[in-house]
Amino acid sequence: MSGVRAPVAVETGETVEQALAAGGARLRDAGVEAPRRDALLLLAAMLAVAPDTLRMRPERPLDAAERSAFETVLARRAGREPVSRIVGVREFWSLPFKITRDTLDPRADSETLIDAVLARIGDRNAPLDILDLGTGSGCLLLALLSELPAARGLGVDISEAALQVARENAAALDLSGRANFLRASWGAALGGAWQVIVSNPPYILSGELPDLAPEVQDFDPPVALAGGPDGLDAYRALAPEIARLMAPGGLAALEIGTTQIDSVEMLLRAAGLQDVGRERDLAGNWRCLLAGNAARPADWRK
Ligand SMILES: C[S@@+](CC[C@H](N)C(=O)[O-])C[C@H]1O[C@@H](n2cnc3c(N)ncnc32)[C@H](O)[C@@H]1O
Repeated sequence: MSGVRAPVAVETGETVEQALAAGGARLRDAGVEAPRRDALLLLAAMLAVAPDTLRMRPERPLDAAERSAFETVLARRAGREPVSRIVGVREFWSLPFKITRDTLDPRADSETLIDAVLARIGDRNAPLDILDLGTGSGCLLLALLSELPAARGLGVDISEAALQVARENAAALDLSGRANFLRASWGAALGGAWQVIVSNPPYILSGELPDLAPEVQDFDPPVALAGGPDGLDAYRALAPEIARLMAPGGLAALEIGTTQIDSVEMLLRAAGLQDVGRERDLAGNWRCLLAGNAARPADWRK
């Protein structure tokens, strides 16, 4: 035998239940909205087990290394960094997406766009070309490609660092063969005729940025949030480009802020597009505006 010994786990005398109680209290004092849930998610991630596994073993003792790792992530959450950013992954459309400081943390509300597009596709095996303007982590494009086996797509973003994350997500989801990514400002560098165009552009009004929760204001990239004085800067740029790039009978799905639906509809109409549908998110707010062009719907559409 060599003299090398396995490190001895030093018991702290603290159980999972005690650590969660203390961690939850600390997060509550820091103003975190769901402190106990977040403490559980973080401890589970640190121990590399499912949260339910941990819930079923409240008496499990923590050793010193585990307690110290939990302490580190608790401090980050107490500084209002979102759990998803601490663990580096966000689930979107039931798929895992890597996120970094360069990507927006995908929101569940954005799944409204995926539902809206899929609901209007009659033939899911059609060889569609999908364009995602402002792709960030790639979540919209890759979620659609995961449902549409013959579709191909292009994700565009102004941020090369975000595109690098989107490429990694495409590879991890085994979608690299059907997804390309390009650094550009919206559709300016593009041509072609795209059957499906999706975009979740920055749409927060300049005056509302200071009121955002610290989780958003301090951790989402500003370029993913700031929509200008009235929140509509990106839509003004996007409307004519979507009209130019849309295939006859194509479909565009735009995410919008809760009060922006009529203003965005006017911008799209001024660019020659038609409002072909509106969808609410789970909270009942208008979240998605669908636009088409004057041509009759194509055969892949319902
Ligand atoms: C609200 S985030 C959406 C990210 C992702 N699609 C999602 O839903 O999670 C907006 C994205 O638009 C990108 N963006 C901002 N200005 C842009 C521009 N001029 N051209 C292309 N992308 C831009 C940002 O870098 C960011 O990734």
